[in-house]
Amino acid sequence: VIQSRAYHAKVLDHYSNPRNVGSMPKNDLNVGTGLVGAPACGDVMKLQIRVDPSSNTISDVKFKTFGCGSAIASSSYLTELVRGMSLDDAGRIKNTEIAKELCLPPVKLHCSMLAEDAIKSAIRDYRSKRSGTTLGEGAKA
Ligand code: FES
Ligand code: FES
Repeated sequence: VIQSRAYHAKVLDHYSNPRNVGSMPKNDLNVGTGLVGAPACGDVMKLQIRVDPSSNTISDVKFKTFGCGSAIASSSYLTELVRGMSLDDAGRIKNTEIAKELCLPPVKLHCSMLAEDAIKSAIRDYRSKRSGTTLGEGAKA
């Protein structure tokens, strides 16, 4: 009972000093936006990535999380993790890696799941935008 309130120091650090909070222009073709919710609690996370199209790597990342401390910490940690990563690698991140790094207790696993869902959704959004462009350019040519 007391333990469920005892957040780990890394969670507190990311919670009280979250990295990369903010947002980017949603319509920018190099920006992918993921917006996901946790059915268990109703918390919401928005995560945006800026992609360098020449290398398919993530050059910048921002988030806004309306959720519990563990969700905020998970998204903050995720932003540090994915900066500079290829889209393929970022898409393979598992929430269990995040939960392990932050020492989240089992009851807080779904909070880290939000971060995994958010990065996957941001990558999907970016890819669907780019495939749209390719078609558009093809049509013009
Ligand atoms: Fe403190 Fe993991 S709970 S080190
Ligand atoms: Fe729902 Fe943490 S309690 S995201």
